[in-house]
Amino acid sequence: MTPATLGTNEEVIFEKIVNDLTHQNYSVNNNFMTIEEIESIKDILIWHEEQDNLYKAGIGNKSEKQINSEIRGDYIRWIDPKSVREPIQIYLKKIDRLIMYLNQTCYLGIKDAEVHFTVYPEESAYERHLDQFKESDTRKISFIIYLNPNWQKSDGGILRLFIPSDNNEEIIEILPEAGTFVCFLSGELEHEVTKSFRKRYSLTGWMRNMPIGLSFLS
Ligand code: OGA
Ligand code: NI
Repeated sequence: MTPATLGTNEEVIFEKIVNDLTHQNYSVNNNFMTIEEIESIKDILIWHEEQDNLYKAGIGNKSEKQINSEIRGDYIRWIDPKSVREPIQIYLKKIDRLIMYLNQTCYLGIKDAEVHFTVYPEESAYERHLDQFKESDTRKISFIIYLNPNWQKSDGGILRLFIPSDNNEEIIEILPEAGTFVCFLSGELEHEVTKSFRKRYSLTGWMRNMPIGLSFLS
């Protein structure tokens, strides 16, 4: 598929993402999915939560995985792209088109994406970190879509991106409001999730430059 075959609106969004990533290493968008799509995705996540299908997220890669709730308090469930319900399918297909667009315009060589459902219970957070476990990590772009309607600053759970600048650093704060889509270069930007005072729902994913099935080689 060439960019010209994308819907016009989608192309505008993808173009903004490419521009933002090129100039500032991150991008924030409010119209990546419709509110109805976001609501249906949230319903599926809540269903998984009710079925007790989520598990405590760890830190470190597969061989050295540790659970440390002080550092990271979220619960996750990896999404199997082969068996997902329609709203998730719509999101994953859009991500695939974004990957194609990024590969054509920025030559990033992205081969695959992995996505999990994420719930931060009340009073949980994720300390400042980088989304790569080591230099050779194959994660290139982190991307998150938030699912919480009417999020207030006082609800906490803010994503803070630390942008290096000459002698200092700039901090960008993003509220996890339903429909907000954020992506950033996994190896460049340190970030944190401040303590959340409300249950916080999202889908979190990474675009990788190696197919997931081979990622144990990295
Ligand atoms: C992560 C992460 C940020 C967020 O899962 O690595 O940094 O806003 N998430 O959920
Ligand atoms: Ni992260």
